[in-house]
Amino acid sequence: MQHSAGVSVSTGAGPALQRLIRQSIARNGGWLPFDRFMALALYAPGLGYYTNAGRKFGMLPQTGSDFITAPELSPLFGAALARQVAQALAASGTNEVWEFGAGSGALAAQLLGALGDSVERYTIVDLSGVLRERQQQRLAAFGLKARWVDELPAELSGVIVGNEVLDAMPVQLLRFDGTQWYERGVALDGDAFVWSERPTPRPPPDDTDFPPGALTETHAQAEAFIATLAERLQRGAAFFIDYGFPRAEYRHPQRLEGTLMCHRAHQADTNPLVDVGQKDITAHVDFTGIALAAQDAGFDVVGYTTQAHFLINCGIVELLKGADVATSANTQKLLMEHEMGELFKVIALAKGCDERFGHEAIGFVHGDRTHTL
Ligand SMILES: C[S@@+](CC[C@H](N)C(=O)[O-])C[C@H]1O[C@@H](n2cnc3c(N)ncnc32)[C@H](O)[C@@H]1O
Repeated sequence: MQHSAGVSVSTGAGPALQRLIRQSIARNGGWLPFDRFMALALYAPGLGYYTNAGRKFGMLPQTGSDFITAPELSPLFGAALARQVAQALAASGTNEVWEFGAGSGALAAQLLGALGDSVERYTIVDLSGVLRERQQQRLAAFGLKARWVDELPAELSGVIVGNEVLDAMPVQLLRFDGTQWYERGVALDGDAFVWSERPTPRPPPDDTDFPPGALTETHAQAEAFIATLAERLQRGAAFFIDYGFPRAEYRHPQRLEGTLMCHRAHQADTNPLVDVGQKDITAHVDFTGIALAAQDAGFDVVGYTTQAHFLINCGIVELLKGADVATSANTQKLLMEHEMGELFKVIALAKGCDERFGHEAIGFVHGDRTHTL
C-alpha cells in the first residue's frame, strides 16, 4: 500500500460524517476504495453532502449555495427539453415521466408546466431525503401527478430524464505508474484522511495508451445504473444531460490528472479529502462508457450532441422571444460555448419506440455527434 504526501486534515462541520467514514475505513482494514468514500461523503443518510441540510443549488455564494445547474439558471431549459420529451412520449405511446436526481425540483416544475395533460404521472427517484422534501414543497401545486419512489419497479415505461445525475455517481480512481495499475483509496493518518493506493489487477477497461503517472476515473456505478434502466424499461426513452466527453477526449493527455472536482461556494477545487460533506464531489461523464453500457443492455443510442445544439434544435431561440432580460442572459449561458453550451452534452437512449424516433429525435437533427462515441 502506498500513502501519498500532502496530508489533508478534515476540519469544520461534519464531524459525525467524518467519524462515520473513519469507522468505515477501520472496518475495511484501514483502506476504503475511493468510490465507497465518495458514496459516504455524498449520500450517507442525513450526513452526506446531498443528504444534509445545506442549500447546494443557487446563483450566488452569498445565499449559501455551492453551484448552479441549468434548470436553476433558466426555466427555458425545461421548456425546451419538454419538446423533446413530448416527442418521445408520443413515439413510445406512454404518458409517464421519470426523473432521477431532481435536486430542488426546478426541472420537474418546468417539465410538468410545459407538458400539461400529456403527462399523467411524474415520478422522482432521488437518493436524498432532504432534497425529496424540497421537491415535494416545490411541486405541491401539481398534486398527485408528482410522486416519489425509493427504488425502481421491476418494469417501467415512459420517458426518463436526468440532469447532472451521472456526474454525481461514485467513481473509482486508477493510477498508472508506467508498469502497474493502482486503485486509489482513502486511509487515515491519525484523524486525517489521506490518499492511499493498492495495486489492482483491473486497469481501465479500454485500450487507451496511458502514459506513466496518468490518473483516471472509471464509472462502474453509472454504467450499472444505465444497464438496470435498460433491463427494466419496457417502452420509452431516456435523456441524460451532463458535462463530459467521448472516451477519446476523456482520456486525452490533457487530462492526465483525471476529472475529479469538488464544488463549494461557487469555487472548484480538486481535494475531496477536506471539508467532507460540505462540498460536492463530481467527475466528468465518459459518454462512450454510458453509450456502450446502454447498447449492451438493450437500449438504442438515438443521439448524442452538445447542450447548445440540443436546446437550439428543441427551439430554445423561439422560446427566448418575449423573455425578460435576466432570463435571456441566463439562457445565453446555457448555449455559449465557453459557458455550458459545449462542455455539457445530451445523450438519448430508446427502447421499444416507434422506429422513426431513432432518426427524427428533434434534439439531434443538427449537430448529432453519436459517431464520436
Ligand atoms: C448535481 S445534483 C443535480 C440536481 C438537479 N438535477 C439539477 O439539475 O439541479 C445531483 C442529484 O442527483 C441525485 N442522485 C445522485 N445519484 C443518484 C441515484 N443513483 N439515483 C437517484 N438520484 C441520485 C442527488 O441526490 C442530487 O439530487
